[in-house]
Amino acid sequence: MLGLKLPTDPRWVNIVEKNIEEILTDHAFCEQKATSTAISLIVSFPEYTELVQEMTALVKEEISHFKMVHDKIIERGWVLGRDRRDDYVIELLKFFPKGGSRTTQLVHRLLYAALIEARSCERFRLLSEELKDKELAGFYRNLMVSEANHYTMFLGFARQYGDKKEVDAKWQKLLEYEAEIMANLGTKETVHG
Ligand SMILES: [Fe+2]
Ligand SMILES: [Fe+2]
Repeated sequence: MLGLKLPTDPRWVNIVEKNIEEILTDHAFCEQKATSTAISLIVSFPEYTELVQEMTALVKEEISHFKMVHDKIIERGWVLGRDRRDDYVIELLKFFPKGGSRTTQLVHRLLYAALIEARSCERFRLLSEELKDKELAGFYRNLMVSEANHYTMFLGFARQYGDKKEVDAKWQKLLEYEAEIMANLGTKETVHG
């Protein structure tokens, strides 16, 4: 449904289940980064009016997700820890060459965002289906739907602002590259680990 080439091994959920505090901490910062990404797209590409409008709405939605996760942390008697290193995102960034036209840069940032939304959505779906903690499973089910919509929006903007054929070809290459990264992951209790 998301075009991802390599599904996450469901055993990843068993790892997550042993350390809910860790996944919630990492997840809270994923929502913070999604908020920051939306703000930074507004700052970098202010002349794309439709994008700015959608990113403004997205900032509100992602920061509300951050609060939802933070509330879960508080409910369970924990305190938000420091941000975790995201090896997945570090590897993903290596796919995109530096430079290029302004449109190319925009397309790259949109595809990068689309992919992170898609993989997050896939991980949330797995959590919603496999977690023994049904309250938390329901929480992830709702978030999964939001992230699927974000994935569609970012990919749609990339196709709208870039050359559709080139964008589609690049997206396919990116999906293949991402599958190679994922082959070495699924071992940590983080959203993309
Ligand atoms: Fe989110
Ligand atoms: Fe999102």
